[in-house]
Amino acid sequence: MSPEASPEPLGLALLGCGLMGGRHAEVLARLEGAGFRCAFDTDRARLGEVCRRFGCRAARSAEEAVADPSVGAVLVAAPSFLHAPMALLAAREGKHVLLEKPLANDAASGQEVIARCAEAGVRLSVVSQKRFDPGALQLKAALDAGLLGRVFLAEVSINYYRDENYFRQAPWRASRAESGGGVLMNQGIHYTDLLLWYLGPVAEVRGAVSTVREGYQEEDVAAALLELECGALATLTASTVTYPGFPETLALYGSEGTCAIAEGKGVLRWEHRGKAPLPEPPAGPAPPEGLPPKLHSMYRNHRDFLGAIREGRDPLVRPEEALAVVALIEKLYVDARAR
Ligand SMILES: NC(=O)c1ccc[n+]([C@@H]2O[C@H](COP(=O)([O-])OP(=O)(O)OC[C@H]3O[C@@H](n4cnc5c(N)ncnc54)[C@H](O)[C@@H]3O)[C@@H](O)[C@H]2O)c1
Repeated sequence: MSPEASPEPLGLALLGCGLMGGRHAEVLARLEGAGFRCAFDTDRARLGEVCRRFGCRAARSAEEAVADPSVGAVLVAAPSFLHAPMALLAAREGKHVLLEKPLANDAASGQEVIARCAEAGVRLSVVSQKRFDPGALQLKAALDAGLLGRVFLAEVSINYYRDENYFRQAPWRASRAESGGGVLMNQGIHYTDLLLWYLGPVAEVRGAVSTVREGYQEEDVAAALLELECGALATLTASTVTYPGFPETLALYGSEGTCAIAEGKGVLRWEHRGKAPLPEPPAGPAPPEGLPPKLHSMYRNHRDFLGAIREGRDPLVRPEEALAVVALIEKLYVDARAR
């Protein structure tokens, strides 16, 4: 059953109403079958703004929002160090939970979250909206159809620019304890997730990191060499100091052809020896009228999560996959710091 066909909205609580919380609220308020019930943020002004704009109730605490009997699922868009404790809270209350990335700031906490959610019988997923970009879905369909043949090389480039304001506005973003790391854990995670989604687990990782921005404690430049279990090699570079910032790109080279995608630009290159056309993105309902295009992939991500709950199936972003990305980044940090 599609979320739209359900007679009763699920009931959603939003924890965290900052940059991403505001975007999630915009999607939830328009997503049929969701039912945006309540929100909580320790910042009363932000909380008030979201509740006013989207007509939901302002809860007095995260506990109270999650315990609300009209709430069936919780969306966590609070700073990353709160993902694991908030997910455990949702599991204790028997509520499904969709976490902003990362699943947790470290793999051990992520494992605990997965175990507790499984015990409680609640669905767990992690936002990875870039998987739902049309170009990313087309590349996945090409791989699933075997069109690239044996993929032997991947290149991932995540070269952002973040100015001082980005860290000043939300100091948790510059704190290892609160954000789990630097560019890899915070920005690099999306296209790293795409790489693993496309090619599967990583066998070996070698990495180096450096810090360019003055006064910043974490890595803002990273480079890695990965050996995947499928036999492919991959390079990955990530940065938040590459002025003026560039769209993330991912290229896969296989025995039968090449495909490169870029964030916001779709498929940059499709070259196939046999001249096979690139598969079309999967058909789905049009996003609701008035939803800004930059939120369309997020809409598809949320719709998939609701569908997983309604239909009793896995979400597209399985928690074990979200854990594998955190574990890979953790391994990369260990390797880089050992140098
Ligand atoms: N999917 C994406 O593309 C994407 C992009 C940016 C950030 N993120 C993730 O989203 C999360 C939030 O990032 P952001 O940039 O929106 O941060 P932000 O600082 O703009 O917003 C976080 C909000 O959480 C609130 N908060 C703090 N403690 C809280 C608590 N105990 N209970 C409830 N609310 C609390 C803060 O007051 C703030 O309003 C992070 O985990 C980040 O990694 C995802």
